[in-house]
Amino acid sequence: MSEEKKEINFVWGKPAPSLIPTVEMAAAAQRVFADPVMAIAGMQYSDSPHAGYNPLRQRLSAYLSDFYGSSESLDDLSITGGASQALTVILQILSDPAATRAVWLTAPCFFAARKIFEDAGLTGKLHGVNELEDGSIDLEYLEREMMKLDNPTLMRPCKPSSTYQKTYAHLIYIVPTFSNPSGKTMPLDCRRALVNLARKHDALIICDDIYDMLQWPSATDDAMSILALPTTAPLPRLIDIDRALPTHTNDPQGFGHALSNGSFSKIVAPGVRTGWVDARPTLVKALTACGALTAGGCPSQLVATMLAELMDHGWLQKHVGGKLVPAYRKRWVLMKKAVERELGGLGGGVVDVGDTGLAGGYFLWIRLPEGAKATDVARMARDTEALMVSPGPSFGVALEEQETDFEPFVRLSFSYEDEENLVEGVVRLARVVRALLNRDQPN
Ligand SMILES: Cc1ncc(COP(=O)(O)O)c(C=O)c1O
Repeated sequence: MSEEKKEINFVWGKPAPSLIPTVEMAAAAQRVFADPVMAIAGMQYSDSPHAGYNPLRQRLSAYLSDFYGSSESLDDLSITGGASQALTVILQILSDPAATRAVWLTAPCFFAARKIFEDAGLTGKLHGVNELEDGSIDLEYLEREMMKLDNPTLMRPCKPSSTYQKTYAHLIYIVPTFSNPSGKTMPLDCRRALVNLARKHDALIICDDIYDMLQWPSATDDAMSILALPTTAPLPRLIDIDRALPTHTNDPQGFGHALSNGSFSKIVAPGVRTGWVDARPTLVKALTACGALTAGGCPSQLVATMLAELMDHGWLQKHVGGKLVPAYRKRWVLMKKAVERELGGLGGGVVDVGDTGLAGGYFLWIRLPEGAKATDVARMARDTEALMVSPGPSFGVALEEQETDFEPFVRLSFSYEDEENLVEGVVRLARVVRALLNRDQPN
């Protein structure tokens, strides 16, 4: 009887256990509980206006200013329960199931975000906008489609304007840097043009900026020195571009037209369930007036005290630059080379991540050899090779005229499995693809 194969999971977008700083977090927790002021701050409801534990906001503002070359003020930042929870709050406060005309999502799209928009009553309003080769999105299509909705029969908002001071006409959801799933980065000219478009049509661009810090050169040169690894953002965020512009006439209160949704999930650990929103102060203030926060305080208050301790003395810079980036880069190189070796001869390969010279994040987006369908590949990989991969169609959006077929793609996560499994998993994947292609050939 053949030995059962050990599962290899390329679906999970979570860090390898060896990259989770349990010891450092335990020490930070001990410091919090050894200090009655910190311990009570952590164990109590947060102070109004519920933007979160101030020492964490202070350390974050220094960290983000350093990384992005921006100058963050405390009023720009509120602590959240992570990017997913923050998106829920953003939609509760700034969208309206009736008055918000459309949600535009990059296609392919991080699938879990779709459900959050649906939960906010926006089902039926989700449209895909194609991501292009260079990481930009199809702005011509986006503007043309937005304009069709610019003069809708006036929809009465469901939510009273006295409480909800701003409802955006459109929402645009993107992962502009090291996107999930494609790994692509949106170039600067597209970032600028998208901000201008959002201003013109009263849209809010919600940027999931959660992979920004996990970056490395896209050259697969083994000799690359750790000193050559970048430590600052290569491009301004969309919030930085928007913030540098005067407020638009359609936005008299100054909410702005972009926000940055950040998270500790990928740079510390997902279980901390803590992140931040970085936006114009009026928008940040509006989010902190969400009912769940006024009733229950800022989320993740206790963990926020521990993260503030953890971030002391530049720990996060050292952890990201000294541990995470070298580890993820090594895994990325290993897996990319394995894909090129195993699938290249069949006509498959890793989709190019764009022209910034940088790669990053957690995923490789693979174009399968012609004739191989992702849904079949994923099913057969699971059933015959104990290999889990994410099939391209699960990253589609409810598209209209731009319908894109993601069957030729699979997403592979290199963040979780051990290094040797990264190569073994790709070998298994290639075996499945070969079997499917042979099967499909007539005799
Ligand atoms: C693009 C993107 N946004 C958000 C999340 C989830 O973030 P959080 O853990 O902060 O809720 C993920 C996790 O995989 C992600 O890939």
